[in-house]
Amino acid sequence: MSHEQPFTLESKGVTKAFSTTDPPTQVLNGVDLAVRPGEFLVVMGASGSGKSTLLYSLSGMDRPTSGTVRLEGRDLTDLSDAEMAQVRLTRMGFVFQRAYFLPNLSIRDNILLPALKAAPQAQDAAIARVEVLMERFGIGHVHDHGITEVSGGQLQRASIARALACEPAIVFADEPTGALNSSMSAEVMDVLSEIHADGVTIVMVTHEVASAARADRVVYLRDGQQVDERELGRWSAAQAHEREGALLVWLRQHRC
Ligand SMILES: Nc1ncnc2c1ncn2[C@@H]1O[C@H](COP(=O)(O)OP(=O)(O)OP(=O)(O)O)[C@@H](O)[C@H]1O
Ligand SMILES: [Mg+2]
Repeated sequence: MSHEQPFTLESKGVTKAFSTTDPPTQVLNGVDLAVRPGEFLVVMGASGSGKSTLLYSLSGMDRPTSGTVRLEGRDLTDLSDAEMAQVRLTRMGFVFQRAYFLPNLSIRDNILLPALKAAPQAQDAAIARVEVLMERFGIGHVHDHGITEVSGGQLQRASIARALACEPAIVFADEPTGALNSSMSAEVMDVLSEIHADGVTIVMVTHEVASAARADRVVYLRDGQQVDERELGRWSAAQAHEREGALLVWLRQHRC
């Protein structure tokens, strides 16, 4: 289905203002983004530039004040809250800086929970899929551990497994390596690069150049507007240093 659409995700003129403050805080100022099927797009920008707000507006966690967001050709801005919740559950995966896992469930059950909710009639398939994902991401041996009994890196790999368990059209990640040291960060980014190589579409916010260098394309946000973008082409670990160097030069133009 997604192959018939030129873009997996497309936003047009997305604005967001928070009216809880006086005067209202205008955070997004008309963001047009088009994410191709299988693309890995990174959003960068200074703290407060609106990156998380954009991710929430694109993923239906929050509604834009104006503008449209289409996922696989379907306009999300028209959906009721219940319809939106269903789209989020079945077509989107989420990875945050910290995994929001239930403390009384094992790692495996935490990963499985949304997939069972998304497709209650296909539990066996979800269980099988989750087992494959856990083995693949190197967390199969900790499947029955509690969430305090694994490392931060393992927990983030579990978050990615959870995000993929419903076979989503797109994965949104907001600073997925923001709370990790550099070796755990690289492990988590290896997993994201791997799923990207498999064709998963990813939109990720990060401050880290090494993580951003994995993307196909990086967009730069300033004051809630996309002010520049940089095509990096397909990731290859052998070119990691060149890619990071090119990104650093590009970012320096925007940060001064
Ligand atoms: N619910 C809210 N009500 C009022 N203002 C908000 C709300 N959420 C975010 N903002 C404001 O919107 C602006 C952008 O916030 P946002 O969290 O999107 O930035 P960010 O680019 O993700 O920053 P960081 O890199 O620090 O995570 C900030 O000025 C913030 O204070
Ligand atoms: Mg943020």
